Amino acid sequence: MRDFDEHSITRAVIERFAETPDPRLKRLLTSLVTHLHDFVRDVEPSFAEWTAAIEFLTRTGKICDGNRQEFILLSDTLGVSMLVDAICHRLPEGATETTVLGPFHVAAAPEVENGADVSGGLPGEPLYVEGTVSAARGGPLGGAMVDIWHSDRDGFYDVQRSDLDHHALRARLRADADGRFRFRTIMPAAYPIPHDGPVGAMLVATRRHPWRPAHVHFMIAHPGYETLVTHVFVSGDPYLDSDAVFGVKNSLIRDYTQHAPGTMPDGTPVAVPWRQLRYDFGLKPLPVPAEEAPHA
Ligand code: BEZ
Ligand code: FE
Repeated sequence: MRDFDEHSITRAVIERFAETPDPRLKRLLTSLVTHLHDFVRDVEPSFAEWTAAIEFLTRTGKICDGNRQEFILLSDTLGVSMLVDAICHRLPEGATETTVLGPFHVAAAPEVENGADVSGGLPGEPLYVEGTVSAARGGPLGGAMVDIWHSDRDGFYDVQRSDLDHHALRARLRADADGRFRFRTIMPAAYPIPHDGPVGAMLVATRRHPWRPAHVHFMIAHPGYETLVTHVFVSGDPYLDSDAVFGVKNSLIRDYTQHAPGTMPDGTPVAVPWRQLRYDFGLKPLPVPAEEAPHA
């Protein structure tokens, strides 16, 4: 086949994938070429624009390393991460909604006792967090692993601070036999996503801001259930309606209730005003493998 024109080229490329043995790969590439070619026909880029796009993607790749993943940030800021999340997490009633993981999760965060202070001594408004982990439309999930992380009062995660030699504002703890968990920390703050690279340039060029509303991240795991990756946002935050990565859902916003100086629910005395967050999480059961399912 030769002499492709701006219409026949699409079919020719798709036919070149005809022998792909993996049917899913074939479907993905066929759809990708169809949509990509339609996009190009739609916008009719100049050669300079095509070059600029290639250079943008090259800069995006070059800034990636073990700690920085600019392609995920690009996916986040184009809404692709939340679209994939929505497709992958069609949830039953009673299951907590999901949102983006983000780049600041640390797999081996320190494991602490249920009820611990995870502030690592960092200054800020004291926060008492408590809640439960249950099966969606089911009972408590005793022993669930609750992994939490959040920013400091200036909007920085511990991993972004070169002055810190220990983990802070992140921990893993086990819910008790009734699925209850609690911990003490400080209030998180809103913060800008990393914006000193190509994604930041895209935000500037499109007059978008890089801010995320204040939140605490939760990753909750229990055998037999989908691991829940979510945040709980602080109600009233000015960025709830313009999150740079489109991660906000109404069901994930809570009042971080203000209290006068006094005593926290676990008896900890507090000499300054403090806040309290309560959230009850529901996990989606994993499908039962066919060989284990009861026979009719
Ligand atoms: C975060 O919430 O930690 C986050 C999510 C997406 C991009 C950047 C940060
Ligand atoms: Fe975050």
